[in-house]
Amino acid sequence: MAPRSKPRILIADDEEDIRSSLRMILEYEGMSLVEAANGKEALERVAADNPDAVILDIKMPRMDGLEALAKIKEIDADLPVVMVSGHGTIATAIEATRLGAFDFMEKPLERDRVLLVLRNALERNRLQLENRELKLSYEEKFRMVGESPQLRKIHEAIARAAPTKASVLITGESGTGKELVARAIHKNSTRAEDPFIRVNCAAIPEELIESELFGHIKGSFTGATRDQTGKFVQADGGTIFLDEIGDMSMKTQSKVLRVLQDGEVEPVGAAKAVTVDVRVIAATNKDLPIEIDAGSFREDLYFRLNVVPIQMPPLRERREDIDALVAYFAESFVAENGFKAKEFGKDALASLRELPWRGNVRELRNAVERLIIMTAGDTIGADDIPAGLGLAMSADEAPSLDGSLVVPVAGKTLQDFKDHAERAYLVQKLEENGWNVAATAKAIETPRSNLYKKLDTYGISRDSD
Ligand SMILES: Nc1ncnc2c1ncn2[C@@H]1O[C@H](COP(=O)(O)OP(=O)(O)OP(=O)(O)O)[C@@H](O)[C@H]1O
Ligand SMILES: [Mg+2]
Repeated sequence: MAPRSKPRILIADDEEDIRSSLRMILEYEGMSLVEAANGKEALERVAADNPDAVILDIKMPRMDGLEALAKIKEIDADLPVVMVSGHGTIATAIEATRLGAFDFMEKPLERDRVLLVLRNALERNRLQLENRELKLSYEEKFRMVGESPQLRKIHEAIARAAPTKASVLITGESGTGKELVARAIHKNSTRAEDPFIRVNCAAIPEELIESELFGHIKGSFTGATRDQTGKFVQADGGTIFLDEIGDMSMKTQSKVLRVLQDGEVEPVGAAKAVTVDVRVIAATNKDLPIEIDAGSFREDLYFRLNVVPIQMPPLRERREDIDALVAYFAESFVAENGFKAKEFGKDALASLRELPWRGNVRELRNAVERLIIMTAGDTIGADDIPAGLGLAMSADEAPSLDGSLVVPVAGKTLQDFKDHAERAYLVQKLEENGWNVAATAKAIETPRSNLYKKLDTYGISRDSD
């Protein structure tokens, strides 16, 4: 919920004088007021006007403050309620704070005290809202969308693995959602409230990884100006996610293996090992058995990690997830950026379902965002989809540096593949020739009329390609 420019305060008091003096104080401070003369009315106003804080008199006719407090808490447990006690109701006010009231004030009400208490109440309310939104967006951010049988199997594997402490090894191509799986396992485990610590083994330089993982003691090496807590210790009680584990050096692998075997870490330069209780989840897009054969991955570590294997299927093997993913990415992108919603036409979805998606879900997400930005109309059609989409290549297959065009293998039939390749080729050549058709035709040694025909057939245009 967007914060209101003016905080709205509900005052429930049977004394007209009290209400009007509070009104003067609070309106002067830029707050807006809603009034109720008894507990019953207060409840109605809470439900109807959705105030940010409530000032509630304890002694009121029809329904007293304590009863109203309990009912308000049923409607909105987080709404801060400040009780007002008159003569002889202090004990009740204290009791009320035990029942969930935020604070209490004594009559006669003093301006400064009222403002202070209310500001605190509003601040707490704001923090709670913010917290809830953060949590929501965390869950939203790491939600796994898709109902394909393949993905359902993954969900089942997550559910089975989550409650145990078993190590999990998640494999699969880049962009298939390995990190989402790791987070889902943690979130569904008994460790959910404890830390989830991700370590990107590929991104940390070799000379730093040990102290990153295991920590170090001040002075243990040049540059160690103070103690550092390692990731394993930070993850104590929770989960450590060793991402891109296939990129870890043999030396570090043997140290990690020791942690897995003994449940102890030895910070660099420390005299004593520290016991940790950490659940390990690892992920890689490498084929570890091949790495083992090649002598770059330890077999014993592989067996330790691979207790529960989870293999993420590439997107092209579960195309039925594409529609749901497109809708989900479009909706979140539009909402995040305050764009006008755009619809993906049936023909566009059909084309997207056909593409090879070598960059998997990550590439699909980027494509959806790009299409929303680039398409002028309200509806995205098949014509809006540029050639070459879905053909992202992993680093090992990137085009050769001499600039020659690498034609990716795509398409259901030979004809599809040829069309796809021809289209991509033409777009690249046109680009090289500044979209001058005559020059391009000459460069690729084809009659200009033929090139025009192809542009028409493939719907190639400078605007959309
Ligand atoms: N099923 C899904 N539903 C929604 N979003 C997804 C899904 N799968 C992947 N994504 C999104 O795609 C992107 C890539 O996912 P993730 O980072 O988990 O992939 P990965 O397998 O770890 O890739 P890499 O090997 O490159 O690290 C992320 O933005 C993620 O949120
Ligand atoms: Mg990843």
